[in-house]
Amino acid sequence: MTKDTHSPRTRSTTYKGIRVFDTTLRDGEQSPGATLNSREKLLIARQLSRLGVDVIEAGFPASSLDDLKAVQQISQQVGAVDRNAVPGGHGSAPPAIAAMARANRQDIDLAWQGVQAAKSPCIHIVLPASDIHLKHKLGKSHAEVLEIARQTVGMAYALCGNVEFSPEDATRSDPGFLLDVLEIAAEMGAETLNIPDTVGYATPAEYGVLIKKVSDQFLARPEVVISCHCHDDLGLATANTLAGLENGCRQIEVTINGIGERAGNACLEEVIMALRTRKSLFQLETAIDPLEILPSSALVRELTGLVVPPNKAIVGANAFSHESGIHQDGILKHRQTYEIMDVAALGLRESRLVLGKHSGRNALRARLRALGYSLNDAELAETFARFKSLADKHKTVSDLQLHALCADLVRPCEEPAQ
Ligand code: KIV
Ligand code: ZN
Repeated sequence: MTKDTHSPRTRSTTYKGIRVFDTTLRDGEQSPGATLNSREKLLIARQLSRLGVDVIEAGFPASSLDDLKAVQQISQQVGAVDRNAVPGGHGSAPPAIAAMARANRQDIDLAWQGVQAAKSPCIHIVLPASDIHLKHKLGKSHAEVLEIARQTVGMAYALCGNVEFSPEDATRSDPGFLLDVLEIAAEMGAETLNIPDTVGYATPAEYGVLIKKVSDQFLARPEVVISCHCHDDLGLATANTLAGLENGCRQIEVTINGIGERAGNACLEEVIMALRTRKSLFQLETAIDPLEILPSSALVRELTGLVVPPNKAIVGANAFSHESGIHQDGILKHRQTYEIMDVAALGLRESRLVLGKHSGRNALRARLRALGYSLNDAELAETFARFKSLADKHKTVSDLQLHALCADLVRPCEEPAQ
């Protein structure tokens, strides 16, 4: 990441710019069953560049030789190439490329080998901070951990100059100790201080209070960026991320489709669309191109094999579909009755009215008209009755089934609505 917290792409001056740190290729790839090979990681990294993320966390080089190679390839072929040169990309400077390292010399050296070819390389150091982790995982005291932080952040800074520090399990850590370890990391050169809710334990109010405390601590050092990294174990990752932003975070760590360890990470698409949809509330901007959200989601789904539930916000198949008669009637009269987002911003032509057993006469009439049928009231009443019994049997009724239903009532309109 560059020193400038604004992305190279155009942003207005009215709102503050925040950084989008995408960890689909590191935390996301830790989803059970989501392993990606280096070719697949490269394809996703190119798409993330087109999407407009500021930082791509490309992997964890110490985890395997393959991951090291994938991070190197991404650094060379995405992180060192202007976005204009990536087919479909816009803007100039490439995204920063980050690699994760545990707090030891070997991991840090490997992370540096991974990212050094990038124009803006970043080493991301993670060090356990909660007493549970210190006692059962690391077997170290607070004083020992402070010393490890001092040495390893200094080590990474000497190599890279751009270091992110994550005290793992921050939300279950002793708050005083957390501030001490962050102070040392910042003093040794870490410019980004990430506050991971590693096990998705915090509530939005708690996470907001914690972020506020950390932000206040670094108020006099505006070069230090506070970052949020939230997991979804209680389904709160997006809410916690937004609470983090409301309390001083200037970087969000997210994944496409919310993939990640266990229940996953905060979803890029949800946070971005919340910021866009509630723009006047948050007054924050990113460089994300919303038109690239659905292609990114589809690519990640395809390559990881992790299915997206139909009711998933923004990227699920039903995210912009309406079935009930009351809602369809409202949508037909005025879209904003039941829609909060402009679907065109996501590259969709329109939301879908799904015809099923909850649909009403008005929606059926509109759909039939779009298909070229003009029915008088009696014909519509009869067709509606037949449609309802078909919907009871099949749950939803397709255009093909509607054609069959109307076969004996053929009366094409002069000008079909669509
Ligand atoms: O969830 C977590 O604690 C992490 C860190 C490595 C940032 O993914
Ligand atoms: Zn994580």
